[in-house]
Amino acid sequence: MTTAPPDGVWTARDLLKRLERHEKFFVLDVRNREEFERLRIEGRERLPSVNVPYFEMLELGGKDEMEDSIVAYAERDLREHLPKDRPVLAVCAKGDTSEYVSRGLRRLGYACISLQGGMRSWGDHYATRAVVETADLAIYQVARPARGCLSYAVASEGRAVVIDPLRHLDPYLELARAKGFVIDAVLDTHGHADHISGGPGLAASTGASYYLHPYDAIHPMDLLPATISYEPLRDGQVLPVGRRRLTVMHIPGHTLGLVAFRLDDEFLCTGDSIFIRSIARPDLGGKAETWASLHGRSLRKLLALPGSMIILPGHFSGLDEAGESGLFAAPLSDLRSQNDGLLALQRQSEEGFVRYLVESLPKFIPEYVDIKRVNAGLLLPDEDQVSTLELGKNVCALSQAYGGPGGGGR
Ligand SMILES: [Fe+2]
Repeated sequence: MTTAPPDGVWTARDLLKRLERHEKFFVLDVRNREEFERLRIEGRERLPSVNVPYFEMLELGGKDEMEDSIVAYAERDLREHLPKDRPVLAVCAKGDTSEYVSRGLRRLGYACISLQGGMRSWGDHYATRAVVETADLAIYQVARPARGCLSYAVASEGRAVVIDPLRHLDPYLELARAKGFVIDAVLDTHGHADHISGGPGLAASTGASYYLHPYDAIHPMDLLPATISYEPLRDGQVLPVGRRRLTVMHIPGHTLGLVAFRLDDEFLCTGDSIFIRSIARPDLGGKAETWASLHGRSLRKLLALPGSMIILPGHFSGLDEAGESGLFAAPLSDLRSQNDGLLALQRQSEEGFVRYLVESLPKFIPEYVDIKRVNAGLLLPDEDQVSTLELGKNVCALSQAYGGPGGGGR
């Protein structure tokens, strides 16, 4: 059971609902410019927003008169930026400063609310939805909407596997409790670069086995072997889940050890290969051209699968990629005709497609090298370092028109 938020406050859960319902509101983000650039709130459409670092608002007064100072600043400098015909959501890093801001702006007649817990809370919010839910087979999509990360639980007859679990384990443990299934195996489609994997942690806390392809148990830049323990995945391997079976498809390209998990001709968890609107980037190991040609061959293999298969991707770039139900999933036949990367794949020669991939690469994110080290057990950061490493939105896809590089904020 959830409790209603106090007046003037939205929780991360409220925010997601409003974004999904296309509600009109304005964002006043009071973090510093660098933080704003790394991760901002995005909706199904572009959200009108303005970034005014909080310290600029305090220039007119001391910390003791925070609210008065905000009112004075807003009267002088914000009038032409803030709308009065829709809610204004004040956002800061942890939700304290935005409360002062929203109280000050309410005094001036703005319908201002504060995001409870700030961007940290939004960044760590999870949303779980059923893709399919029958006695024979249930698949749940567990999303971390702010970062554009997706993971899955596949269950049959009380047994389950979790695919690509994200850093916080509670959503998976709560799901298992609520639906009454036992997690037998935890699978990573690849050694992730954009987020800290919850795989080894979830396996340890449930007694399940953790699986990874051995090629991704080597850091691609350091060439150091992973120190985490894992069961090796291989192409064609069959993993039982209750009455159903998942088949491993080795599809190198985004990483050398990338795999997809196929559930008969019905569902395909593609990891970082095919997304809804785009495809994965091949350069995060520092070998863009070599991996790009592997990527092309793997994608052609996936393209030949039955068109009725439902693609369940590892990421999204914008909330507008979800259907009305909020799920990020689509039949392969739709993606063949709508996905930018797959359209390029079908139009281009092998060499032409490699060129297309290399020319569409978004900016390299330096933190990704260290995140891969963390996932291999080669670095052990504390909680603060982990949050800093994971601060931005994922940039695992090729560049796109919407939302800039990778559709994300950085
Ligand atoms: Fe990835």
